[in-house]
Amino acid sequence: KLPTEQYRPVYHFTPLNTWTNDPNGLFYKDGVYHLYYQNNPFDNVWGHMSWGHATSKDLVHWQHLPVAIPEINKPDTTISIFSGSAVIDPQNTSGFGQKGKAPIVAIFTGDLPKQKKQAQYIAYSNDNGNSFSLYTGDPVIDINRPDFRDPNVFWYAPSNKWIMAVSLVHEHKIRFYGSENLKNWEPLSDFGPAGYTGHDWECPALFQLPVEATANGKENAKLSKWVLLVSCWGTKGPYMQYFIGEFDGKTFHNDNPADLDLTVDDGDCFYAAIPWHLGMNRKTLLGWLVPGKVDVNPWRGQMSIPRDLSLRRTPEGIRLYQRPAALISKNLSRQSKGKKISLTNISLNNNSFHPVSSTGNNKNTQMGNAYWAEATIDVNEAQKAGFNIAQDSLNNNKVVVGYDAEKQLLYVDFSA
Ligand code: FRU
Repeated sequence: KLPTEQYRPVYHFTPLNTWTNDPNGLFYKDGVYHLYYQNNPFDNVWGHMSWGHATSKDLVHWQHLPVAIPEINKPDTTISIFSGSAVIDPQNTSGFGQKGKAPIVAIFTGDLPKQKKQAQYIAYSNDNGNSFSLYTGDPVIDINRPDFRDPNVFWYAPSNKWIMAVSLVHEHKIRFYGSENLKNWEPLSDFGPAGYTGHDWECPALFQLPVEATANGKENAKLSKWVLLVSCWGTKGPYMQYFIGEFDGKTFHNDNPADLDLTVDDGDCFYAAIPWHLGMNRKTLLGWLVPGKVDVNPWRGQMSIPRDLSLRRTPEGIRLYQRPAALISKNLSRQSKGKKISLTNISLNNNSFHPVSSTGNNKNTQMGNAYWAEATIDVNEAQKAGFNIAQDSLNNNKVVVGYDAEKQLLYVDFSA
């Protein structure tokens, strides 16, 4: 039996003592981030899929709340609550609101293993997302398919409609639907196959972002683009791709050739990520980190560090950029104040990275088993420079944090 809690991350979300995979239903209201997650309420392995629930004001400290949408068990069938999204409905377009308050509406896939069917369901909450009632007209979209899942919904103001992106998993297509009330949905268009089609397409998300800077670094505030994220377990394991283009309220037009495969994350565990919509120009992405071989106890599965998203012009075209959510850095650096360990002039010698000769401003601070490190890396001559933050003495695997001067990228590489 593994020692309890030994590998519990300090600032990644983990369920207390159960299983998680995909983040679901992310919404932000009254200064609180709501996170639902694919959860087995009874065990730390996949099964009995339900929406677990937790909230946070700072994306570091999470309050664990009761399961928000449990698996539905009827005498003749079981409906698992698969991945999806949640929206705040301020105009009460759904009619689910009470006493003039905006309801929260969850849109998710009901998975019926006996019937080999996946269909889209909705449920509503009038207590701030703590508990949900299933809509009596469910399912709201049923096209009699076994591989039709992960609806992601947002409000599209120009046509006063809700738009849903949902996956036709084996066809490698994302289908868009439109609705005025979240109950009646009309098909709008299909996108795909395109990009990487080597595996199932799951967990789409479509959103708009401003393009931050032109090639010469000048702001171009007016230009914005639409980003479509698609998760597709690749040959190497979890893989996420994205497309950049335009959305006209009905159709997504890819700016790039259909065979261009743009990667969200080069690691081997970031998956099923969807964003918190924090305003027109602010999206913070949260993904599931697929568990590796090392066993943990008593929970299993964890979320990524939330990432603030932006689009930038590069010589190759417009690309998606991600950085750890500003809110996290603010909170962790504040928390770690006062307990400082200073390390200066660390020199590193290994084959893949140039030694760091000047680490001028290193401040390492211990927080339990986590460290907050601020480092100045001198990359005047080196193209890449960095330091190891973990090393496995058995087979010499390392986790390297580094800066690539040529690409202007900070990276974390655990394939070293
Ligand atoms: C992605 C996924 C989704 C599905 C959910 C079920 O990891 O396969 O497509 O809705 O997990 O837990």
